[in-house]
Amino acid sequence: MSDSPEFPRHVAIIMDGNGRWAVQRNHPRSAGHERGADAVRRTVRHARKSGIRCLTLFAFSTLNWQRPTVEVRELMDLLERFLVEELDELRGNHIKLVGIGERELLPTSVRESLEHAERETAHLDGMTLVLAVSYDGRRDLVRAARLLAEQVRRGTLLPADLDEHQLSKALSTGDLPDVDLLVRTSGEVRLSGFLPFEACYAELYFTPVLWPEFDESTLDAALEEYAHRQRRFGLTSEQMAGDQLASVI
Ligand code: FPP
Repeated sequence: MSDSPEFPRHVAIIMDGNGRWAVQRNHPRSAGHERGADAVRRTVRHARKSGIRCLTLFAFSTLNWQRPTVEVRELMDLLERFLVEELDELRGNHIKLVGIGERELLPTSVRESLEHAERETAHLDGMTLVLAVSYDGRRDLVRAARLLAEQVRRGTLLPADLDEHQLSKALSTGDLPDVDLLVRTSGEVRLSGFLPFEACYAELYFTPVLWPEFDESTLDAALEEYAHRQRRFGLTSEQMAGDQLASVI
C-alpha cells in the first residue's frame, strides 16, 4: 500500500488548536499542549503502522517565540520530555528522528536531547519523523540561499547550474521526499510558512478537529481523502486516464 500512488510517502501536519481545546474546557492552555503531546504519540504510532515513510510535524514556529514566556517554557519542556521519553519507542519501531529549524535558538537541554535522539536513531529506516522546531519556511529558504551563494563565491557552483534540485537539497529537509499530503487541524485554512518549497505540489487537507483530539480515525480520513484525489502534475485528466490504462495492460 505504501508504494502505491494512492498513498502519500510524506505527510506533514500543522498541529493547531491546543489552546482552543483547553479554553473550551476551562483548562489552562498548558493542558491543551499536554493533550497535544499525547496526540503526537498516537499519530506517530499510527503513521508508522500505516506505512507512511515520512511524517513531519510543526511543533514550534519561529513566531511562537513571541508567546508568553511561561507558555514557551511549557512547550520546550514538553518537547524535551517527548524526546527523552519516546526514544525507546522510536528505536523499537525503527523510526529515525530528524529536527529542522533554527536549533541554535532552542534551550541547551532541548537541543541536546534533540541531537541525542537524532544520533541514536540515525541508522533506522522504518519511517522518518521530522520535528519542525523554531521553524519558518521563509527563513529556511534564506538560509539555503546563503549556503548556495557561498558556494558561488568559492567558485564551486555556477549560477547557471543552480536548479530546483540543488535548492531543494540546500533546505533543511534536503534528503526528504516532497510533501504529498499536508494536513492542518482546528479549522484554520492557512499554511503559516510551513514547508513552502517542499509542499509546493502537496494535496491540502483541512479538518475542524482540534489537535488534542486528532486520532487514528482522523489520520485515516485524511489518507482516504488523499487516495481519491487525482494528482495531475500539470497533465490533463485524459492523459492521466491513458497512463492508468497503459499501466494495467
Ligand atoms: C498550536 O496550538 C500548537 C502549537 C503551537 C504547538 C504544538 C505542540 C504540541 C502539539 C505539543 C508538543 C509537541 C511535541 C512534539 C511533543 P495553539 O496553541 O496555537 O492553539 P490555538 O490556536 O487554539 O490557541
